[in-house]
Amino acid sequence: MSGIKLLATGSALPQHMITNHDLEQIMDTSDEWITSRTGIGARHHCQGEECHTSLCLEAAKKALERSGVKPEEVGVCLVATLTPDHLTPATACVLQKELGFQEDAICFDLNAACSGFVYALHTAECLLAASQRKYGLVLGAEVLSRVIDINDRSTYVLFGDGAGAAVVEWREEFPSIHAVLGCRGNDQVLTIPGVNKGVPAVVHMDGQDVFRFAVEALPRCAREVAQKAGITLEEVDRFVLHQANQRIINFAVKKLGVDPAKCTGNIAHTANTSAASVPILLDELVQKGEIQPGNKVLCVGFGGGLTWAGALLEVAQGREGDTK
Ligand code: UT7
Repeated sequence: MSGIKLLATGSALPQHMITNHDLEQIMDTSDEWITSRTGIGARHHCQGEECHTSLCLEAAKKALERSGVKPEEVGVCLVATLTPDHLTPATACVLQKELGFQEDAICFDLNAACSGFVYALHTAECLLAASQRKYGLVLGAEVLSRVIDINDRSTYVLFGDGAGAAVVEWREEFPSIHAVLGCRGNDQVLTIPGVNKGVPAVVHMDGQDVFRFAVEALPRCAREVAQKAGITLEEVDRFVLHQANQRIINFAVKKLGVDPAKCTGNIAHTANTSAASVPILLDELVQKGEIQPGNKVLCVGFGGGLTWAGALLEVAQGREGDTK
C-alpha cells in the first residue's frame, strides 16, 4: 500500500465574465438554447495581463498556503493543460522558478485534454512513490478562449478559462487513489490542430458523437474506480465530475443510481474548462465546506483523445508531517 491524500486546493478564474445574454449580442444564439442544452449560464475569459501562467500561479499559491507545505518541499509539480502560454518552457517549469521549488523537483506539463487533471493525480502518485519526496502540486489549467472560433456558435458558447490546483501528500501507509485511466484514440470527433498544421488552432467538435462517448465512459469509469478501491458507490461522499454538459452529468447520475445532491457542479458559471474543470470544482466544494477532511471524493474526467480518467481521492485530516 502507498498513496496520496488531498491536503488543500486553490483555484483562479479570470475577472471578466461573459453571460449567455452577452453572447446573444454578438452571435446567433440564445440564453434559452445554451442553458437548456448545456446548463451553462456564463464563462470567464482572460483579458489584458491575465494568462495561463498567471491563473496557475494564483491557484497554486492559494493551495500551497492553505496546505502549509513550503515551496521547497514540493517534489513533483504537474500541470495538465492543452492551452499553455508556451510550448516550452512547460508551465510547471515556470512555477518552479516563480514559486521557488528545489531544482530536483520533477516539473512538467501533460496533455490528456479534459481528463488531464486526473491523469496528473495518478502520475504524481506514481512519481512520489518512486522518489523520496512527500508533496506534490497538481494543477489543471486552461485558456480555452484562445482556441475557440467566434464564428462557430456550436463550440464558442461552451468553453471558458480557469485554473485549479491541489496539494497532495504521499505516504507509505496511505491508500492509493485507485486511478482508472483510458484512451480510445480518435482524431475526428474532438480536435484542435497543432502549430504545424497551417490552419487556425481552434476547437472542432462533433458534439453528438462526443456526447454519446461521454454518457457511456463517465459512469463506466466511476464504477471501475469504486470496484478497484473495493467500495460501493454509496460509500463515496462526493463526486467531482468533469463539467462539460449538465445533461451528461444528469445521465451519468441516473445510470449510476447515486444521490444527485452528491454530484452538483459549477458549470452554470464556469462553462467547460477542460483540464481545469475537476480541480476548480474540487476547490469550490472544499471552500464551501461541502468536502470535508476524511471524505472520499470520486473524480472523473473525460474528453479529447478520446480519454477518460477516474480516481478516489481521500481528503487528509491535516498534514501528516505535522502530527509525527
Ligand atoms: O469536454 C470535452 C467533452 N465535450 C463534451 O462532452 C461535449 C458533448 N456534447 C454536447 O455537450 C452537446 O452535443 C452540445 C452541447 C455540444 C450540442 O448539443 P446538441 O443537443 O447535441 O445540439 P446539436 O449539435 O445537435 O445542434 C442542434 C441544433 C442545430 O441546429 P439544427 O441543425 O437542428 O437546425 C445547431 O445548429 O442547435 C444549433 N446550435 C445552436 N443554436 C443556438 C448549435 N449551437 C448553437 C448555439 N445557439 N450556440
